[in-house]
Formats: sequence, C-alpha cells, structure tokens
Amino acid sequence: MHNVVNMCDDVYWVGTNDRKTDRFENMWPLDRGVSYNSYLIIDEKVAVIDTVEFGTHSSYLDKIQDMLGDKKVDYIVINHMEPDHSGSLKVLLTNYPEAKIVGNKKTFAMIKGFYKIDHNFYEIAEGDELDLGKHKLTFATIPMVHWPESMVTYDKTTKILFSNDAFGTFGALDGGIFDDELDIDFYEDEMRRYYSNIVGKYGAQVQNAFKKLAGLEIKCIAPSHGPIWRTQIERVMKHYDAWSKFEPEDEGVVVVYGTMYGNTAKSANAVARQLAKEGIKNIRVYDASKTHMSYIIRDIWKYKGLIIGSCAYNSSVYPPIEALLAELKLYGVKNKYLGVFGTYAWSGGGMKAIKEFGEGMRGIEVVGEPIDVFCSPTPEDYTKVEAIAIEMANRLKSER
Ligand SMILES: [Fe+2]
Ligand SMILES: [Fe+2]
Repeated sequence: MHNVVNMCDDVYWVGTNDRKTDRFENMWPLDRGVSYNSYLIIDEKVAVIDTVEFGTHSSYLDKIQDMLGDKKVDYIVINHMEPDHSGSLKVLLTNYPEAKIVGNKKTFAMIKGFYKIDHNFYEIAEGDELDLGKHKLTFATIPMVHWPESMVTYDKTTKILFSNDAFGTFGALDGGIFDDELDIDFYEDEMRRYYSNIVGKYGAQVQNAFKKLAGLEIKCIAPSHGPIWRTQIERVMKHYDAWSKFEPEDEGVVVVYGTMYGNTAKSANAVARQLAKEGIKNIRVYDASKTHMSYIIRDIWKYKGLIIGSCAYNSSVYPPIEALLAELKLYGVKNKYLGVFGTYAWSGGGMKAIKEFGEGMRGIEVVGEPIDVFCSPTPEDYTKVEAIAIEMANRLKSER
C-alpha cells in the first residue's frame, strides 16, 4: 500500500503531508510544510486515531478505504478537536456511518459546535479501557496541551502513546516517518518552534501531563505532527520538560530590533559584536520586520539572554516589536535576562515600552542600563550600548 506505513503489528500511519498551506492556524509559516498524522489499528475492531486537516482528506480517505476493503471503522478516537486533527471527521463518518466517536465530555460539546454532529458519541472517562481485541486502548486527559479537551491515547499492547499535539513538530514528513529515518536536528528545531509558539503558554499544564503519564512504559510516541519518536524518546521528553519550565538549553543571546532607517540596527550590531568579544558564541540577531516572530520566539525559548531594541513610532514602540512583546507577555515568558535599547527623534516611546515590559514581567530581569539614542548613535552612545552587552555576558558567564 502506497503512502501507508506499518508501524508495528496492526498499527498503521495513514497521515497526510501538507506542503500547500502557507501558514498554520493562518499565522505560523510552514516553510517546509506540516504533517497531520492519523493512525489506523486493524484488530477485531478497527480504530482510527485522530483524523487530518480537511484540505488533505481526499488522499486520507483513499488510504483508509484501501487498507480496510470491506471492513468498517468501529471507532474514531478524537484526542483533540482543533480542526487540523478533527477536520476530516465528517468525511469519515459519511463513509463509515456506524463508527463511534470516542472522546471525553468536552470533546463532544466542541464536535456539536464545530460540525453540528450530535450522534455516535462514545464517551470515555479517565482510565477507561477500549478493547479492540488484541489491542487495549486507555485514555488520559491532558487539558490545555493544547486545548481544554485534549487527551492522549495509549495502546497497552504495543506501548505506543498517541500524544496528539504533544511532541509534535512543524515540517512535512519527507519520506521518513520515524525519527531514525530523518534529519533529527531539523525536526528538533521545528519541534521547538511548534512548542514555543503553539503550546508555550501552557508550561504548567505540560508539567501536569508529565506527572499523569509518569510510570507509563512508552516504547513509541506517535504525535499528530512530525516524526514518530521511537529512538529519541528520552531526548524529546527532556526537551519538553525543560521548555515547559522555561529552562534555557544553552548559553546564548537573542538580539531583536525594530528599525525604519537602520539607526536602531546600528546599536543592535554593536551590541552583538560586543557580546562576541565577551565570549558569547550563540548570538542570534533578528530584524523584527523581516523574520517571522515564530522563529524569534523559538530562539528566545532556547537562550536565557534577550536584548530588544526599538525605534520610536508615533510616540510608542515600533509595531513589530510591540507584537513580539505582546506575545511574550501572553506566553508568560520567564527566566530571562533582558537588555533594552531604543532610538528616538522627538518624544520617544520605543525604549520606554520595552523597559516597562521587562519590569512588568515576573521572571524577567532587566540587566544593564537601558539607553535611548537620539537619532543615530554617537561614540558615547555606542559605549553605553556595549555596556549592556558586557553586563549581559557577565551575567551569563557567571552561570557557567
Ligand atoms: Fe492543537
Ligand atoms: Fe495540531
């Protein structure tokens, strides 16, 4: 069967790759696509675990029909209602009208809301077992990873954890499906971008999920986006644990700036150069107007050092920086050192807004003296800007 991958026993990957959609949730760039992983268990009873985004349903349905022939789908497990996973539920039900939809109380309210479906519900509670024959499925709710109704499904027989959004990545599956078949560094980076931007706000809930799943013997993590983890389970678990606690992975600094005419960029370059002179190797410099915020946030998650600069704009902060600050505030980013600089020509506003942001966030410490440069930096201004870099580097190095 083409484009269906046998995972083990009677468990199959029947997901789809989407290289057409420009932005996930109409917001996050999909430079190398995304996969919607759905799984099929063909036992005495047949279960589908999660569906795929509606736009890719045609090839999806073909795979299931080809695999099943005259067999019917008995259960459709909906771990998460976001339409990238539930989007083909209606199509599946049209073709398999007797299939029972497996979900929790919160799932069904959303199914009614999104799809106006109010029948075939098979409600499960925490710890219930669904017997497929050889395979026995159990369920655990993991609220807010990523939505309130989110849950995971565990196959006691194969010890596969169908984790839905948890441990998911951006990036279509380019041939390989399993972690040992792929360039892991790329997917790890995309998992970081996915986590920080999609799940990042819910660190405490990820920790709760960890507690709930502790003690479970997991041989394979099968998420709903990206690679199936079967050789790197410890590595991805470690990442999730650290990310959800806002623990930096490595010594480094993100320098991000908003500039109209390049004057704020001058300070950004000076700050970065000074960081390098101080021995900081991981430095990422971003123009907030050019690089999509999701990549900047990904790296902010990775490093403890953050230096933000902005020109003034209508007596306030430059809009791309304003958007970044709003997002970081929403996610409750913490455990960061923050350096602040700005540029102004009359009433200012850029530097002030970043400084207020830093001072208002628990777990963010403003380091060095924020500086607002008049029009374009003078030699004295450069010295002050470099002082921020020196202070940042010293703080980071003291933690070595
Ligand atoms: Fe989601
Ligand atoms: Fe998703």
